[in-house]
Amino acid sequence: MDHFTYRDGLLHAEDVPLTQIAQEVGTPVYVYSHATLSRHANIFRDALSILPDARCAFAVKANPNLAILRVLQAHGFGADVVSAGEMQRALAAGMAAQDIVFSGVGKTHAELLAALDAGIGQFNIESEEEGLELARLAAARGRIAQAALRINPDVSAGTHDKISTGKAENKFGVPYDAAAEIYARLALLPGLHMRGLAVHIGSQLASLAPLEAAFVRMGGLMAAIRALGCSVTHMDLGGGIGVPYRYGESFPDPVDYAQMILRVTRDWGVTLMFEPGRVIAGNAGVLLTRVIRVKQGVVHPFVVVDAAMNDLARPALYDAWHDFVPVRAGPARMTANIVGPVCESSDTFAMARDITALEAGDLAVFRTAGAYGATMANTYNSRALVPEVLVHEDRFAVVADRIEPATILAAERVPDWL
Ligand code: LLP
Repeated sequence: MDHFTYRDGLLHAEDVPLTQIAQEVGTPVYVYSHATLSRHANIFRDALSILPDARCAFAVKANPNLAILRVLQAHGFGADVVSAGEMQRALAAGMAAQDIVFSGVGKTHAELLAALDAGIGQFNIESEEEGLELARLAAARGRIAQAALRINPDVSAGTHDKISTGKAENKFGVPYDAAAEIYARLALLPGLHMRGLAVHIGSQLASLAPLEAAFVRMGGLMAAIRALGCSVTHMDLGGGIGVPYRYGESFPDPVDYAQMILRVTRDWGVTLMFEPGRVIAGNAGVLLTRVIRVKQGVVHPFVVVDAAMNDLARPALYDAWHDFVPVRAGPARMTANIVGPVCESSDTFAMARDITALEAGDLAVFRTAGAYGATMANTYNSRALVPEVLVHEDRFAVVADRIEPATILAAERVPDWL
């Protein structure tokens, strides 16, 4: 459920008509609903409250906008970050360093140092090599890094290949069978306090079954590690719950997710950690766009909109579906290809889509664009970097400016020897 609804035939974000935002900020523009974000944060946190000790770290990659992070901080979320840049954002949003978890296979020397100096709560280390480096750096600084070892459980997540992370051939984590011994070796190092395990098998999961399979395996590994005499006090179960992108689809409910976790982890005696991204932010945003023109096609007309693959990359990258609805509701329908202005055929949002009839100048939105939307935008074809707006009841604010091509151009130089 979200707060993008029609009133008198006009699509609103909470109490603000999207026509007003288009007029004042221009298009394309991401529009977020505070009430929706808040609702999803509360639902997730409340669902997990049946677990004795659970902490939530929002996966910043899903939506790193400072205002979004501030809202989630106010809802008691920490941050799961994958770069020093994301860490800076989480800190800037007021998240406590202790509530930050740092994941990722390629943390650089400089990033490890920055995170150590910031005093983050946990490093999710993804290889023995990284663990050795972190231990060395921490010891040299007289610090002790709190760490969890990320495991690759070799479980198929049943999602798109490009967002699947828990199969043996994926780059993430250490192989399940080698993990206990790696953990035991790392636990001996000064500078490192190995306190647990982490797992994340993929994103946009449509079913809880692969998660349950992964968590059961993690429980077995935890017992094996304890049997080696090592302590395990924290288990980070990652993110991954999918959201409906198509009207009528149904996806796992956080309440069922929490019950499954309670069942699997009942005897673990650990602090559980979670890194949800999409399930918190996905439905809280839309990409508002204007139709540039409707062009005749051989089979279907092309609705050419002013948003493109550089603004919303998911359809081009993962063949992802985003519902596309008009701002002004109308009875007439059309079957159309929805495309952006970028000069390659992958700049196609939908083919042969049955939509409300649109013409040049009309406004429409791609729904469920609050996660992995603006954050993946770029300036391909020398287009502007798309702005972001946050709506709260009848107020709205631009929370990220449109970065114009001229500003980007101003950061480039022609060397004087040319
Ligand atoms: N934790 C880790 C270690 C992750 O790698 C991810 C996502 C998450 C948590 C959050 O997962 P979520 O709850 O959002 O499913 N760009 C792709 C999604 C990439 C996800 C990467 N990792 C997309 O647009 O579908």
